[in-house]
Amino acid sequence: MRVARFALTVLVAATLVAPTAPARAQPAPSAEAAFAHVQHLAGVIGPRVAGTPADRAAQEYLAGQLRQYGYAVELHTFQFPFFETRRVEVAQAGTPPRAIAAAALFYSAATPAGGLEADVVPVGLGQPADFEGRRVAGAIALIERGVITFREKVANAASRGAVAAVVYNTGPGVISGTLGARSEIPAVAISQDDGRRLVEAAQAGRVRLRLLVDTVVETRTSANVVGTKRGTTRPEEIIVVGGHFDSVAGAPGANDNASGTAAALEAARVLAGVPMARSLQVVLFAAEELGLYGSAAFASERRAGIVGMINLDMVGWGERLMIGASPGRDESVVNVAEQVAQRLGIPVTRFRAGASDHASFERQGVPVVFLHRGVDPYYHQPGDVPANVTPRHLAEAARLVVGIVMELAAARAGLLPVRPGG
Ligand code: BES
Ligand code: ZN
Repeated sequence: MRVARFALTVLVAATLVAPTAPARAQPAPSAEAAFAHVQHLAGVIGPRVAGTPADRAAQEYLAGQLRQYGYAVELHTFQFPFFETRRVEVAQAGTPPRAIAAAALFYSAATPAGGLEADVVPVGLGQPADFEGRRVAGAIALIERGVITFREKVANAASRGAVAAVVYNTGPGVISGTLGARSEIPAVAISQDDGRRLVEAAQAGRVRLRLLVDTVVETRTSANVVGTKRGTTRPEEIIVVGGHFDSVAGAPGANDNASGTAAALEAARVLAGVPMARSLQVVLFAAEELGLYGSAAFASERRAGIVGMINLDMVGWGERLMIGASPGRDESVVNVAEQVAQRLGIPVTRFRAGASDHASFERQGVPVVFLHRGVDPYYHQPGDVPANVTPRHLAEAARLVVGIVMELAAARAGLLPVRPGG
């Protein structure tokens, strides 16, 4: 308490002699500089799947940029469950066999190298009661998407002796879903049409499926790239600006999320020359796409001193910036962001945020603001290339970040619930 009052006295004294953040002219981010990062990450390096050589190339590039701006740079390493699909083939046995479009669920076990063939047994939604009176031992369980998680469906099938699980969609296309952790048996997703056709055929007679799933599930190491700029009067209190730099397999990840990484970097560049009371940490996260692994490791290991977090994910496509926190979470930093946006004349919409790295900080009790522009048509596709990213959108996001950071880092009393030391 005495320390806090002392700090406050120093702060009030400091504010009498030094101008506070809004009074200070805000340096302007450059659209071209930000876009150059997108071109390098998505255009030169390409898809950046965590745990691959492209992941390491991206880390080196990002560390080099932050070092150039004058930040103290470190790699924060962590282990995570790596997953990769090498080959997936599904076919209804017959003469000729009928090929069925399929994708391995993330963290699916592999089949034997030669594949497997078994009878198909439909088991509804794959809830425990759905298995009553059905003989799935040695068979392939055919399960409809919905109500319980993929992981639960597949575990229920495995515990009753199924040799594989096939989950069919409730809408168009083959969905990409995750089991969260390695499954006992191979598990693939197929379309609703193919699923329904197989259910009907299995009800009419015997249906056999052939499955070949070649996946890699193993522990690997990756690293978040961390750049730190020490605060002048409250260095132990930290503002985090972050965004993930990894992408899904096959997607160059220009908008998701070279865009957020680029805007964070550009904000870091212009903030390097701005004296601030609190410390600024720019953290570029690895392994978001497999399950927020990089940010989860960082937020749990480095939570001490963090007073607020700004996450950027998909800010290069779509006219309007959206800001928010997860449902039911602290909105104090969102409120600050809204005020700053208004002052800067940047139009923003408040929305309920989806799944990205800010959630890892919210789980540790850190107030966050998540910035994005909505889902583009190339999301997680090979078409997520730099040409679909608008440079001025990156600069606008960076400008808002600079404003929010200057506001939060100015450390005027009553702005944030300050909990140094976590
Ligand atoms: N960039 C997305 C999250 C996102 C979605 C941001 C929509 C803005 C608008 C992120 O990389 C992603 O794909 N997340 C996964 C979940 C994650 C835990 C694997 C998702 O949303 O399905
Ligand atoms: Zn993303």
